[in-house]
Amino acid sequence: MKRIVIFASGSGSNAEAIIKYFNHTKTAKVTNVLCNNEHAKVFERCKKLNTNCLHFNKNDFITTDTVLNILKKEADYIVLAGFLWKIPEKVIAAFPKKIMNIHPALLPKYGGKGMYGMHVHNAVKENNETETGITIHYVNANYDEGAIIFQAKTALTAQDTPETIATKIHVLEQRYFPQVIEEVILATNE
Ligand code: GAR
Repeated sequence: MKRIVIFASGSGSNAEAIIKYFNHTKTAKVTNVLCNNEHAKVFERCKKLNTNCLHFNKNDFITTDTVLNILKKEADYIVLAGFLWKIPEKVIAAFPKKIMNIHPALLPKYGGKGMYGMHVHNAVKENNETETGITIHYVNANYDEGAIIFQAKTALTAQDTPETIATKIHVLEQRYFPQVIEEVILATNE
């Protein structure tokens, strides 16, 4: 049984879907959710699901090894589910090919610093895109640039708004993210 630690910064709908999914498989379990925003809704969701959720700050993450030490104790895989900080090199070095992120667009389009959440959907709408989607990828030292593992698309119409685009993206995320994580774990299980 592998152990997953999730990083989240906000609502946590992806974290919730992943926790629920792995409650029903023998592949892995979510051992902890780490969150940099103490007001995030993900704390409530974890409480309802009886899953640990821990707040940390920049000092714990970057200056000291507090977060790294938790990961070394509790994680075989790390999943970024709506997490907005860059992952420090020391964490990437300790977990090579073991960190996955979900991005709410078809990378390499609409990626990079500042491209998260509604900023992405606003940009997609402004450019009158006829499709968008999700990208699940490995994490390296640059935002949204690690090798792509999986993408799924959804069609857009002129009537779509940034809000309806966000809803379509969440549908894809809930449907695919947990199962793609499981496939990666099964394929890389040593
Ligand atoms: C998700 O749509 C995720 O793809 C996106 O933030 C949202 C978080 O929702 N991530 C990024 O934009 C990362 N660049 P959630 O907190 O409900 O899972």
